[in-house]
Amino acid sequence: MDDSELIAAARAARRHARAPYSKFTVGAALLTAGGEVVTGCNIENATYGLTICAERVAMFKALSEGQATFTRIAIVCDTTGPTPPCGACRQILWEFGGNLEIILANTRRETGRHRLSELLPQPFDERSLK
Ligand code: THU
Repeated sequence: MDDSELIAAARAARRHARAPYSKFTVGAALLTAGGEVVTGCNIENATYGLTICAERVAMFKALSEGQATFTRIAIVCDTTGPTPPCGACRQILWEFGGNLEIILANTRRETGRHRLSELLPQPFDERSLK
């Protein structure tokens, strides 16, 4: 699974987004250490606040299917510039995925690439509870 295939999987997942309120559709494709891909899209609802982002859908799907180790995630939306994950998603990706490689892309090209530790430099995680 190379990066362009992972981005393609995120683009395909984005087509399933339910975003009637924001009209901002996002797709994510999470790569497991074993080479499997788990996808997600954003899902909004009429209360707005219960919206869940594409990245967290992908991570929670993966965890619920028994996946536990991850290497990369591709995130796709239809913007010209890079659109990095929101703060809530950074927290969840860090806690369950560790220092993932984050690949940002739009409908045509890659727009950015980060390690999660760059985006969440001083995380609160289980070490903070000791
Ligand atoms: N959204 C994501 O799916 N991922 C992000 O990292 C940022 C935002 C979604 C949530 C909402 O449905 C829409 O984009 C607008 O914020």
